Amino acid sequence: MTDTPETMTAQYRQDYRAPDYFIDTIDLDVQLQEPMTEVTAITRVRRQGEHQQPLILNGEQLILKRLAVDGLPYHSYEVSEHHLTLFNLPAECVITIVTELDPAANSALSGLYKSGDAYCTQCEAEGFRRITYYLDRPDILARYSTRITADKAKYPYLLSNGNKVASGALDGGRHFVQWQDPFPKPSYLFALVAGDFDVERSHYVTRSGRKVALEIFVDKGNLDRAGFAMESLINSMRWDEQRFGLEYDLDIYMIVAVDFFNMGAMENKGLNVFNAKFVLANPATATDGDYHGIERVIGHEYFHNWTGNRVTCRDWFQLSLKEGLTVFRDQEFSSDLGSRGVNRINNVRTVRGPQFAEDAGPMAHPIRPDVVIEMNNFYTLTVYEKGSEVIRMMHTLLGEAAFQAGMRFYFERHDGSAATCDDFVQAMEEASGVDLTRFRRWYSQSGTPELTVTDEYDAASGIYRLHVRQHTPPTQDQPQKLPLHIPLDIELYDQQGAAIPLQYQGKAIGNVLNVLDAAHTFEFEQVPVKPIPSLLRDFSAPVKLHYDYSDEALAFLMRFARNEFARWDAAQMLINKAVIEGVAQVQRGQGVELSQTLLAAFVAIVDDGELDPALKAEILALPSESTLAELFDVADIDAIHQVRDAIHTRLAEAFGARLVATYQSLRLDGYQVVHADMAKRALKGVVLGYLAALNAEHADALVREQYRAADNMTDTLAALQVANSYLLPCRAALLADFEGKWAKDGLVLDNWLRLIGSKPAADVLSEVKQAMNHPTFSIRNPNRLRALAGSFAMSNPVQFHAVDGSGYRFLTDLLIELNEVNPQVASRLITPLIQFKRLDGARKALIRAELTRLAKLEGLARDLFEKVSKALAQ
Ligand code: TRP
Ligand code: ZN
Repeated sequence: MTDTPETMTAQYRQDYRAPDYFIDTIDLDVQLQEPMTEVTAITRVRRQGEHQQPLILNGEQLILKRLAVDGLPYHSYEVSEHHLTLFNLPAECVITIVTELDPAANSALSGLYKSGDAYCTQCEAEGFRRITYYLDRPDILARYSTRITADKAKYPYLLSNGNKVASGALDGGRHFVQWQDPFPKPSYLFALVAGDFDVERSHYVTRSGRKVALEIFVDKGNLDRAGFAMESLINSMRWDEQRFGLEYDLDIYMIVAVDFFNMGAMENKGLNVFNAKFVLANPATATDGDYHGIERVIGHEYFHNWTGNRVTCRDWFQLSLKEGLTVFRDQEFSSDLGSRGVNRINNVRTVRGPQFAEDAGPMAHPIRPDVVIEMNNFYTLTVYEKGSEVIRMMHTLLGEAAFQAGMRFYFERHDGSAATCDDFVQAMEEASGVDLTRFRRWYSQSGTPELTVTDEYDAASGIYRLHVRQHTPPTQDQPQKLPLHIPLDIELYDQQGAAIPLQYQGKAIGNVLNVLDAAHTFEFEQVPVKPIPSLLRDFSAPVKLHYDYSDEALAFLMRFARNEFARWDAAQMLINKAVIEGVAQVQRGQGVELSQTLLAAFVAIVDDGELDPALKAEILALPSESTLAELFDVADIDAIHQVRDAIHTRLAEAFGARLVATYQSLRLDGYQVVHADMAKRALKGVVLGYLAALNAEHADALVREQYRAADNMTDTLAALQVANSYLLPCRAALLADFEGKWAKDGLVLDNWLRLIGSKPAADVLSEVKQAMNHPTFSIRNPNRLRALAGSFAMSNPVQFHAVDGSGYRFLTDLLIELNEVNPQVASRLITPLIQFKRLDGARKALIRAELTRLAKLEGLARDLFEKVSKALAQ
């Protein structure tokens, strides 16, 4: 890493300028060979208008071998660490550039690199410049033709975007394949893969009758784990036709699963490259959660073909244009195919937990950022998950029909081009006639808005009023905030749990109130009794809600709310209240007391015979410690842990004998990935946890038996998780057994690494360090690293935040090593070290010292530099 200070400078959204040159076509010739790969790029370049500006191409870690313009050697150029600059070019010309690069040395996994024995690429956001010198920006759309040459025995499959147009044998045991992509695309969607694979094949007939070949490439021997991914792909293709009217556009769709990958997957045109974790599954190796993840990510990348590829982003500040929208689409896909309630609950958990924490930390940014140092740092929960919530709010405001009309309008206008977030909102506005002027502020304002609601009821007139105030606290990037357009979905209930129709001035009104100003009063007529309001139903906006609910009102909503999400949300609020009170009790040296109302409400959930077991499991699973930390200005890590634990035990005592009965009622014969069974397994896992809180000795026997008898990975891991979190006597033996079975299977072993990283005991770091010596562990593999170090840093708060600073020191040492190996992954792992706002003074000081150590590191990568400097500026 020899980043010069020049490369640490910030880029601003406001500085966007259209390119000085266009590139219409690029012919790539890639000679894969040891040690250096040779790339020839022939581009047709066109000057944009009359000007004397040089053509400044991006390039990194390349060796320039040859440069020609219109077939003649060219000398009017300059090469620097990050650019190739060409002077005095004619208005139109053909540029030939030959470069060399070393894929085997590329541990950053950006550009062309080796994953095991295969070559593969990752070009988003700015990886193409590590393959050849190019105008590596998303508003340059070119037609690609790619010829790949390699050893035939080692690399029988040579893949790239589009259609295969030629192939053949060459001298010396080599062969070539030529690909042509008919759709102009930005460089970040380019992909190339070479290797030896097993191939799962199928096909799909689109609604207009075109036959599309589907191919999933997996490591040899893994064919028995590719079926579910194929099913998910076919379901995605059908769903996008049915719900969005969008059809696939090439004759072939390929997915390659690789072991070394920085993120989840990548939507390269016609050739998705996936982290193997989101492809490979069978009942012996994958949990229900893994299956769900595969369906979601396969869908996500497929949906990008329209929202991302056909219409792409003008510049990277517009990233949420494709990501927020595509997350919205994959969430809708999962909800239409599975349980809408459970999906909504889990998406909201992510926003309220990690996304709100991001807003409150030093990396706070709007879903459309204004200033970026390293683009890879902006593939965030804010851009993705809050971005999706912003699309969802438009969907709520417009309704499905007008939203779909807006989508059609958007494609009519922008298909085949690079667009902005504002273009999208404009299309929605024009297609629907809904005024989105104020709504647009969601794109430019960062932070989490807070809604404070009070109410009053006048029995004589039957009038009920809701007073709503909104306020967005300042964030590190933006001191001043403006009111937003917030859709507030509500329902009112009478004492019997019946919904009271919403009426104003004699007319029925919808459930979604438009909060536009800092303060707003909504009045409802003909309200026969003082109602209990259900507020922010389905989390109709990504905001924090304050309303002074009594325990009784929340218990009432848990029982009567007509919507699954609202019942879960009431349970969360009830627990949150208990945690806030409990932490105060603990800090005063008292024990944790729970209200009878709370206990009875949760017992009623266990007893509810009508409730979907999946929803039951969600309600009974307590919020994570890090989500609970968000409730406090200063989060007492140890007290929160202690209180959460105490609540869990009190609830277990209240459930009593029901637990064993419930556990036994959830037995299943055989394993199937269907909602009803997944629901039962989820509940069984939660109940086993309560049983462990009740009686460790009994639980030890149950856990051993569940582990022994399990015919699927979900039950196996549920047993291990309980053994691990309660440090049951069986823990060591079961973990050793699991390791013995799966020692060579990285993806499965990740579960073992996660259990070790989250061991709730003071000796966790010694087990973590020992696991780093496991033959299957490698700091170069992001999955292994995240499983072990990520679980320690993100899901083991008590140990990570140990007051002796050992957790912070461990993570910092690791980041220093990773800074050289893989800065992108380092930059994701640093999150718990930079979000220290809610910690006490002693811990803050320890963290600052570690961050200062990083800041002084020679050769600190841009990715870490941006976060460390922002964190220290807090
Ligand atoms: N566009 C990808 C997605 O959301 C994510 C992505 C961005 C990515 N940059 C990456 C994936 C780098 C892997 C590596 O689907
Ligand atoms: Zn995406």
